Amino acid sequence: MSHSSAPCDSSASMPGMVACAARHVARVAGVRRMAADTWCAAIDAPDLASKITPGQFFMIRPAEGTDPLLGRPFALYDTLSDSNGNPTGVEFGFVKVGKLTSIMSDWRPGDRVSIWGPLGNGFPLPDCQHLICVAGGIGQTPFLGVIREALGQRSYGQPARQVPRKPESVTLCYGVRSEKWLAGLDDFALPGLDVRLATDDGSRGHHGYVTDLLRLQLQQNRPDTHVYCCGPEPMMAAVAKVCREAKVACWLSLETPMACGFGACFSCVTKVVEPDGSWDYRRTCVEGPVFAADRLLFHESV
Ligand SMILES: Cc1cc2nc3c(=O)[nH]c(=O)nc-3n(C[C@H](O)[C@H](O)[C@H](O)COP(=O)(O)OP(=O)(O)OC[C@H]3O[C@@H](n4cnc5c(N)ncnc54)[C@H](O)[C@@H]3O)c2cc1C
Ligand code: FES
Repeated sequence: MSHSSAPCDSSASMPGMVACAARHVARVAGVRRMAADTWCAAIDAPDLASKITPGQFFMIRPAEGTDPLLGRPFALYDTLSDSNGNPTGVEFGFVKVGKLTSIMSDWRPGDRVSIWGPLGNGFPLPDCQHLICVAGGIGQTPFLGVIREALGQRSYGQPARQVPRKPESVTLCYGVRSEKWLAGLDDFALPGLDVRLATDDGSRGHHGYVTDLLRLQLQQNRPDTHVYCCGPEPMMAAVAKVCREAKVACWLSLETPMACGFGACFSCVTKVVEPDGSWDYRRTCVEGPVFAADRLLFHESV
């Protein structure tokens, strides 16, 4: 396994690059089923686990062979620790949609993988009275770490980050098409977390979109509310619009397809509004994947 002892910040030579990102050859610790077509993989990677923060991601692929040639990006679900609290590995949740995710669902303990990270900026440290996380589909995965950190139940990063202000309330609004795709509800059964569910077909929780749950939360008009969101792009565009109308600060984590993950190929660009009102393309892998919603252009079409 390769190690990097660089301090873990984002002020490396290329804008947005994470200085401590490193390639690790690591082993699969296990794969557990979370929901229909959905699994959670654990990877033994202590160095990565000690540095990664919620909302950051890593690129992963099999250590051997050339198919697939390129790694795929996955967000941190949570870090794993030994009985002394020392970080031992990372977990990530995934839906089987294509080539690598099909291979991953058959991974066995001991399989060798190549993992490159930590990458990206991650969500800002919570600094508000009320934090609402809005997740659509597999977009719930970055929020386990966000929520545990916000509730003061776990710390991340090296040196360990401190939450400037512990929110008075933390809510997860989580929407999926149908009950069978609800993933990780046991993991999200955390003291202090209010979980609100929505399904498109009404099989569990609110019958309708997760944006309905968000509107209900925002109707309470609680001051100093921040919204973090991750999910399919149309859902994030709708969340951005709801927040804009309610004048609530919102951050979105994009799931733009990526080829390199470290700023070299420009396959991941998205339109970002500049301070002077013009727009430019920004690389989601190094300047994101988390952006303030009012800096992204896609919500303008909603
Ligand atoms: C920052 C970031 C974090 C992410 N975090 C997560 C996460 O935590 N969990 C998660 O599940 N996903 C996450 N994703 C998305 C994840 O990276 C993709 O789902 C993954 O790359 C799919 O890899 P794959 O090899 O299985 O699919 P690929 O084979 O690369 O296919 C990708 C897509 O193309 C479609 N496709 C494949 N072959 C064909 C074909 N022949 N014709 C038409 N369509 C086809 C597939 O259906 C699929 O939708 C994240 C993405 C980003 C950018
Ligand atoms: S994925 Fe290559 S520049 Fe972002």
